[in-house]
Amino acid sequence: ARDMSGAGLTVLVTGGAGYIGSHCTVELLQAGYAVIALDNFVNSVPSAPSGSGLPPSLQRVQLITGKELTFYECDLLDKTRLQQIFQEHKIDCVIHFAAIKAVGESMQFPLLYYKNNLIATINLLEVMEAHNVYQLVFSSSCTVYGNPESLPITESHPTGDVTNVYGRTKHFIEGMLKDISAANSKWNIIALRYFNPVGAHPTGLIGEDPTKEFTNIMPYMAQVAMGNKPHLTIFGGDYDTVDGTGVRDYIHVMDLASGHVAALSKLHKDHQRIRIYNLGTGKGVSVLQLLKIFEAVTDTEIPFKICSRRDGDIVSMYANASLAEKELGWKSQFTLPQMCKDFWRWQTMNPDGYRSSVENSVSRK
Ligand code: WQD
Repeated sequence: ARDMSGAGLTVLVTGGAGYIGSHCTVELLQAGYAVIALDNFVNSVPSAPSGSGLPPSLQRVQLITGKELTFYECDLLDKTRLQQIFQEHKIDCVIHFAAIKAVGESMQFPLLYYKNNLIATINLLEVMEAHNVYQLVFSSSCTVYGNPESLPITESHPTGDVTNVYGRTKHFIEGMLKDISAANSKWNIIALRYFNPVGAHPTGLIGEDPTKEFTNIMPYMAQVAMGNKPHLTIFGGDYDTVDGTGVRDYIHVMDLASGHVAALSKLHKDHQRIRIYNLGTGKGVSVLQLLKIFEAVTDTEIPFKICSRRDGDIVSMYANASLAEKELGWKSQFTLPQMCKDFWRWQTMNPDGYRSSVENSVSRK
């Protein structure tokens, strides 16, 4: 039976127009939540000026679910605007996705990342506290583990030995959340450490559409498969792994989405200061293995060149996901072929992402 743990509750979703945020919003609406989504469009396609006011990704979310949601264009650095939103709505809980996340860019512009990820989060936490809202799910990342000392990696593995600024912002925010929940027992927080989110909603209506350059492997591979890029550059073929290429734990974005509903449900039932869970499949997959499955599932050719390692890359990372299964009753369901197939459907149905979407061009009455 569908989890209706959100019935009668209102959840604020920061970064709601983005890749993970829009997919989670589908599951939140289906679980009965009233959703208020915020976004500043730093990495998502904005609403059309003459449109319905909703960005295309969230218009599609309404199409998929047949339910309505509330949207505000809001930068979390604009604390006054954020306060207004908390004054206008009775918000029961928050999921905080909003952040910038390009690893390479974070090394070039550290202050942009500390401002956008840390200061924004401090604003959000202060406004939540001022309005007595203490239930928070935070979007964290396995990147906080740095280079794993042992695999599969559990939540008790040391964190902080992070090689990039983006990952450090996630690590610092986890530290802030531990400190505020130690200082004030009203906080009831779950941090979810994602492994590598890939795939798209099975309808193909929403998917990953970065407004920045494609850096993550699946969007890049899809561009090569579409013929928009000549080949995939594989960063490193001499790692100590099954075939010399990097190993990661790829997880379907809809599995991540259900993980967030399970985390909120836990917060409503069981108040503890802070808990941290891995959201992964527990399976490590190499770049070459992923490429072969993607080619087979999409019946495409993906030419590649094996080049030098990418700075800051870790060799191998995959989750021990048993704690989320035990305490949240959550386990990943989608297979790697499904991740590739769902991403490919999104890609082929939306070759220009949301830019060509009808809603964006035709003004809504
Ligand atoms: C995956 C594998 C690359 C591109 C990052 C962040 C993480 C999260 C996900 C935000 C690696 C290889 C990639 C390419 C390649 N981001 N690769 N050629 O670096 O594991 O994780 O994105 O939440 O926090 O750290 O993801 O997709 O860039 O790389 O060979 O063109 O694919 O070396 O082994 P990564 P990725």
